[in-house]
Amino acid sequence: MCAATDLSSSQRTADVVVVGGGLIGLATAWRAARAGLSVTVVAEPVEGSASTVAAGMLTPATEASFGEEALMRFAVLSRDRYPSFVAELEEDSGLAAGYRAEGTLQVAFDSDDMARLGHLGELRERLGLSTERLTGRECRRLEPMLAPSVRGGYLASDDHSVDPRALLEAMRAAAERRGAVGVRDRVRRLVLDGGGRARGVVLDSGNEVSAGQVVLAAGVATPAIAGIPEGVVPPLRPVKGQLLRLRTPGGEDPIVARTVRGLVKGSPVYLVPRGSGEVVLGATQEEQGFDTRLTAGGLWQVLRDAHELVPGVSELEVAETCVGLRPGSPDNEPLLGPTAVPGLHLAAGHFRHGVLLAPATGDAMAEALTTGALPDYARRFAAVRAAGGPPATADGGRTEGGEQDQWM
Ligand code: GLY
Repeated sequence: MCAATDLSSSQRTADVVVVGGGLIGLATAWRAARAGLSVTVVAEPVEGSASTVAAGMLTPATEASFGEEALMRFAVLSRDRYPSFVAELEEDSGLAAGYRAEGTLQVAFDSDDMARLGHLGELRERLGLSTERLTGRECRRLEPMLAPSVRGGYLASDDHSVDPRALLEAMRAAAERRGAVGVRDRVRRLVLDGGGRARGVVLDSGNEVSAGQVVLAAGVATPAIAGIPEGVVPPLRPVKGQLLRLRTPGGEDPIVARTVRGLVKGSPVYLVPRGSGEVVLGATQEEQGFDTRLTAGGLWQVLRDAHELVPGVSELEVAETCVGLRPGSPDNEPLLGPTAVPGLHLAAGHFRHGVLLAPATGDAMAEALTTGALPDYARRFAAVRAAGGPPATADGGRTEGGEQDQWM
């Protein structure tokens, strides 16, 4: 959509203009269009766009970590929406979204790694996330290419995966079929009216999109959009991830049948299979600003750890190497819905979970755009907190004694 459509005049008007054509921007645009709003999406190709690089794991059970309990509750809700979200998306777009429901196997390289996974297993139980503890032999029965030395692991049957590139194409087509218009251009600045209300954006081409509501969903580039009043959008830090895509010679099945996440001497690594026969290996987590260079050290780290778990990866062909920049908010939680500027919304800061959180974000944003308020399940992540806005209610889980405690 965004590559093919241009403004036909210098002035376009919509109910909503969404700035950003990644998964979060398009999920917002598509769901808002389904809710009956007229939507324009403004997007430009961005180097390091997280959406085109992400492995696509939908794995709250095997990614749960201490201190992220409230975020994981939102992630579980979003994961559980995926089947219906994908069904609606495929119906609206006529395209396959690359959803795979084989479950996820989390494995340990040595006994220290197994102890650490066991500790996280207790957290998962408290979160109500079901996983099954397996011996090394049971892991290899599921995934015969695992190294004989793998100590054991956990099977998370409800943790699935999706192909983010297929998902992106489907969302573009679905949004377009629901009436959304895509514009390939760069936003020069946000436009506010005399009363300080957001009323659109001016583009590099000089064209303007006027809209009753503006959604900023441009990943790590969001805070740099000119014209945003100070303090409304917090800084988002780029967290670099380097990945490889490997393919089996002859186009055979991928080397693993399901997502394999592993700990290798404390270092996390994952292998995510694709329908094409490829497997995505990732990923580094590097905090060094807007750096999209591939490095030998980064790729070596991912290959070294993947090879410890699945030695056969060294036989595969390298199909692609890539770098993405995850948009990390100050508290690592997404920023959603209305901001302190009337008419201005955020859908940003999804850090490591943009793909996983796309359905819940799209739905929450569509609700905020149609009713003016986020649904209860998303209130904890209200963007107004960035400007010192009122804390969420107990429903949102940010106040003392709130629901969050149930997750600790
Ligand atoms: N969610 C996987 C990653 O950020 O690498």
